[in-house]
Amino acid sequence: MDSRYTQGEESDVFAGFATAFKSFATEAIHVGQEPEQWKSMAVVPPISLSTTFKQFGPGRHAGFEYSRSGNPTRNCLEKAVAALDGAQYCMALASGLAATVTITHLLKSGDGIVCMDDVYGGTNRYFNRVATGLGIEVTLADCTKPEVLKAALKANTKLVWLETPSNPMMKVVDIKTSAELVHEYNKDIVVVVDNTFMSAYFQRPLALGADVCMYSATKYMNGHSDVVMGLVSVNREELYERLKFLQNSLGGVPSPFDCFLCNRGLKTLHVRMERHFKNALAAAKFLEADPRVEQVIYPGLPSHPQFELVKRQCTGCPGMITFYIKGKLEHASTFLSNLKLFAVAESLGGYESLAEHPAIMTHASVPEKERDVLGISDTLVRLSVGLEDEADIIEDLDQALSAAHPEKN
Ligand SMILES: Cc1ncc(COP(=O)(O)O)c(C=O)c1O
Repeated sequence: MDSRYTQGEESDVFAGFATAFKSFATEAIHVGQEPEQWKSMAVVPPISLSTTFKQFGPGRHAGFEYSRSGNPTRNCLEKAVAALDGAQYCMALASGLAATVTITHLLKSGDGIVCMDDVYGGTNRYFNRVATGLGIEVTLADCTKPEVLKAALKANTKLVWLETPSNPMMKVVDIKTSAELVHEYNKDIVVVVDNTFMSAYFQRPLALGADVCMYSATKYMNGHSDVVMGLVSVNREELYERLKFLQNSLGGVPSPFDCFLCNRGLKTLHVRMERHFKNALAAAKFLEADPRVEQVIYPGLPSHPQFELVKRQCTGCPGMITFYIKGKLEHASTFLSNLKLFAVAESLGGYESLAEHPAIMTHASVPEKERDVLGISDTLVRLSVGLEDEADIIEDLDQALSAAHPEKN
């Protein structure tokens, strides 16, 4: 039986996509949350604010010593996320970028990273303006093409960083093919997939051969735009031991309160993602049919160049849509300024609809030349379609397009 939450007409949006992960909702709600772990038998995990934990005697403790190295509330979250990723282990970090930095510390000076050319602006900035300063070589490559990825691998490559779908151009990488070819070249190269856009509900990179699945949990995994957090899931024990050591040694851990919130957000991840998909697909279809719009890039549309791969690799699509408005910067700007329901704001993946201008906002830190090559132009707009009523979302897009293009009304 299809375990997707939506029924009837709404479930049609999933036609042709990979089968939903078994028992996802049950695991999101129950794994790591067992009331028996608390003396109080609390059904909802308590927020453990204590920074330190009493020991029975020196070195003899009940599983926790100091809150940076391990915290009971964080533990509940990490166990739940590990289950949702089909992973043995998960580590929560203070932000998505803290997760990126922690993973990059697996490398030393002289080592190399091959990074997808289109990635979140902050990831690009960290790799190219911080990691390079520490002696790490960074090569950008269009990893949607296996032959380009293969050609970018070198003797010093230790890390391959994929983001799929990519932010903001929605480029989709074949995770299985990429992981296989990288590991064939050198089995010790760590293949990371930034799974922020798809969330654990729509894509399982570890099952496809990646070594690490990471998230900006600030987005869909928490889903309520009130927590900044990163998550890192792995299966290999030795990799976990090294990353766990780095989590504690670098110290970029989230607060127990943030762990509580993200753990709570996970309980509705499956329900939220299905509604994000339904709303975004409707919005993408509306935009694609609109003469005021030049082009829509949405992985859930048959017009997406990798639609077949998306359906094979993913169990659905998120609320992220990128589109080019007809005209110039002023048209994009007028469109954004006239949105009423959508807030013009950075970030994505929350219950509320957001819109932004990547070239001016989230990807301003990407050098202009790179932006030009990628297509992050003045008319590019990125939407994070929320959970509001579909008709209201479309009405808002329609009226803002009218404001941008009064001559076409
Ligand atoms: C795809 C992706 N990865 C990583 C990050 C960085 O995460 P954070 O903002 O939580 O540090 C972001 C932030 O927008 C993102 O969109």
